[in-house]
Order: sequence, then structure tokens, then C-alpha cells
Amino acid sequence: MFDKEVYISRRDTLCRKVAEGIILLPGNSESPANYPNNAYRFRQDSTFLYYFGLDHPDYVGIIDVDSGESILFGDDYTLDDIIWMGPQPAFSDVAIKAGVSYTRSMDKLKAFIAESLKKGRKIHFLPPYRADVTLLLSSLLRMVPEAVASAASVELAKAVVSMREIKDSGEIAQIDEACGIASQMHCMAMKMCRPGIKEQKIAGAIESVALQYGAGVSFYSIVSQNGETLHNHYHGNILESGKLLLVDAGAETNMNYCSDFTRTFPVNGKFTSRQKAVYDIVLAANENTFRIAAPSSYYWEMHNAASRIIAEGLIDLGIMRGNANDIVAVGAQALFMPHGLGHQMGLDVHDMENIGERYVGYDEETLRSSTPGLSSLRIGKRLKEGMVITVEPGIYFIPALIAKWKEEKLGNGFIDFSKAEEYCNFGGIRIEDDMLITSTGNRMLGSCRPPVTTVEIEDFMRQ
Ligand code: GLY
Ligand code: MN
Ligand code: MN
Repeated sequence: MFDKEVYISRRDTLCRKVAEGIILLPGNSESPANYPNNAYRFRQDSTFLYYFGLDHPDYVGIIDVDSGESILFGDDYTLDDIIWMGPQPAFSDVAIKAGVSYTRSMDKLKAFIAESLKKGRKIHFLPPYRADVTLLLSSLLRMVPEAVASAASVELAKAVVSMREIKDSGEIAQIDEACGIASQMHCMAMKMCRPGIKEQKIAGAIESVALQYGAGVSFYSIVSQNGETLHNHYHGNILESGKLLLVDAGAETNMNYCSDFTRTFPVNGKFTSRQKAVYDIVLAANENTFRIAAPSSYYWEMHNAASRIIAEGLIDLGIMRGNANDIVAVGAQALFMPHGLGHQMGLDVHDMENIGERYVGYDEETLRSSTPGLSSLRIGKRLKEGMVITVEPGIYFIPALIAKWKEEKLGNGFIDFSKAEEYCNFGGIRIEDDMLITSTGNRMLGSCRPPVTTVEIEDFMRQ
């Protein structure tokens, strides 16, 4: 974790951003996989990590906005725990690492909240995303579980987003480190890739890299020769010569900062001219974003610029027709890129997605568009120095979607469906890198970009 001063300062800033009351930040508990003592890898709640830094289950943080004090609720380990887990620090010593000197046992939490409610104090909390936290909040706040999410504090959501969306130098160093791990993962995938190998073998190998150098993967890896399926988690195919392998994978550092890269490369190490033509369009869209993104530009503009490059490229291939500006105005290119250009990234790979997109990706100034393509964009708002976002354009030939658009005569006449159908066995290409917005523009995160041009990839795979 960072020095305790970092967490003290963050909590002080949060107190200045929220007018009054109590901020209730539950950490996560272990989550059983198949029986209580066999849990999934523990993942602390990212907002709890941001304000308290403690990567242990079963803590609840309280920040009293009016007094500026923080309290941690939790319990000391019992002798029985110590028999199974070895010597453990006292809870009060753990709290000191987060700069918190007031600790109370968990059985006091309910009375503390009841007392605060009795005094008419406002209790701020974020929308829960785990059932056990929903039940805890329901019991503490005496409301039915179904009512909890909608009672979450908009004021707290906006305050937390305004802080977490601007990464400081310590956080940027962590994200650079996560990108370094992901770069190794992608290089390993390219090295292993060859006809006859099972996707699962590559997925397992790259996930072991994430575990060797950090806390594991930042999301379940996508390793698929059916890259047209956007989030394909099936790893059961045997790789075939002539196909493309799409690998979308990232890592978390030991402090849980994330990375997220996608590379798409030929199973046999050599792009066909058709694959290269589509690939270079996607790469141009990716690299153009790094040329133009800067503070004060809007991310929806970056999405549209990438979409125009994709439309122009598809016009050149005869798959679309007309003018790229007109195509993007109605979103007809979304048949081939039905997702947004990227999302924020930090302690979550889709940073703060649990807090609510209308505060994280959009704001009073920028509302989500309903135009196809833009309507799937997770962040449209104005960029600021210190933001971290992914840049992940793609072109996919999804047979079911092409068939639907053709049947329903969608696409405003901009699509040559018979030409598009020629690509129905092509698969999909996505190229994803991670970007920091700087005072003057942006920089790519990570010190070693995984091979990305067709020449770099072919050279790398040949070695
Ligand atoms: N890993 C999913 C994504 O790229 O957003
Ligand atoms: Mn990704
Ligand atoms: Mn991503």
C-alpha cells in the first residue's frame, strides 16, 4: 500500500467534497466458490482500497464528514484463525497503516449506524455490487434489499469519481507496472501461438505471468480465434492456420492497479493480404487517437475520429460506400465496431463502473448519445490531465449481426451487404493500448508496447 499520508489526505479531500454526514465504505468479504472455506481469489473493493488501502476482508470504513475523523470496524484474529493462518497483526496496528487511529469491533457497527440515524445524520454509501454488501446495508439502514441501490448517495458518487478519475504519480507508476506485466503476457501469447495448439494452453500460460508478477488478471482473459465475439471466454478451440487469434488480457499489480491490452495476430505467424488490409485500418484508428487526445477534448470526439477512419477503410475495401462523415453521423460503421472506443482504467479495469456510468463516463455537460456505436461508449466526457483510458478500436464481422442488418435494411444504404458477407469467416480484430492524459496531450502507458504493426508481429512471431 502507499504511505498512510496518502490515505489520510484522500479522506480529508473527500470530506471537503461532501457537505455533511457519514460516509460508509464497506470493504469486501471472502466470496465462496463452492463451499465457505474455498473462496475465489479475494478482491478488495476498489473504493475502500482507494481511501483505506487495506487489502484484507471484513473491514468497514467510516469517514465522519463533520468531524473529519475516520473509524475502521473489524475484528482481531482469534486463536483458531492463527492456528490456520499463522501469526497476524492486531487490528489496531493494521488500521494505523491506513492512518486510522479509531478502531471498533464489527459487532458495534450496527449500533453506531443506528445512533447516527437517530441523530438524523445523512449516511452516504455507493451502490453495492455484491449481494452480501447489499444485505449488510439493508440491515444497517433498515431498508429492504431491493431499495438499497437507489438510496445510494449521488453526492458521494460524484465526489469519489472526481478524485479516482485523476491518477496521481504513485498510481500512474502502478498502472505502468501493470502494463509491463500485460506486455509480457501478450509477448508470451505471440510466442506460443501456432496451428494445433489449444487456446486454453495460451490462456493458462499468460495468466500465470499475471500471477507471477502481480495479483493476477484484471479480468478473465479473452484468447480466441473467434475474435468477432467481443468478450469470448471460451478457450476450447484448437488454433487453425489461416485464422487470427485475438488476445484481450491484462494484469493487476499487487496493489490492484490494472492494465488492459488487446493484440490480434495470425495463428501461422503471417498475415494474409486481406487480414493485413483490415488490420491496418484498426491500427490507424488506434494510433490516430494517440495523436489527437488531449485535455479538454471529449472522448466521444476520439470515438468518432476512430469511427471515421474505420468507415474510410471499409469504403476502400468496398464493404461500405458513401462518405465517412455521413456514415459516422448515423452510426452505420457500428455494424463492424459495435462497441465504444474505450473506458477509464485504474483500480478497476473498467474503472468505477460500479459507481454508475452517468457519473463516471458522462456528466451534466456530456450525455450518452443514442447513435449506434456512440451509444455503447462507456466514457464520452471531457478529458482531464491524469485520466487513464483505454484505446481499443476494432473491426468485427459478426455473421448474425450482418444478417440482421441486411434483413432489416439497416445501415442507411452505406453497407454493401454482399461484400460484407464475403468476410463472414474473417473473425475480428481489436487493438488496445492504455493512455494517460498529460498536461499537453497524452502518453501511452507501459514502457514496452507489445508488437503492434504487422511487420513487428511477423518478425516477433518468426523469432
Ligand atoms: N477487457 C475488456 C475490455 O477491453 O474492455
Ligand atoms: Mn481489453
Ligand atoms: Mn478495455
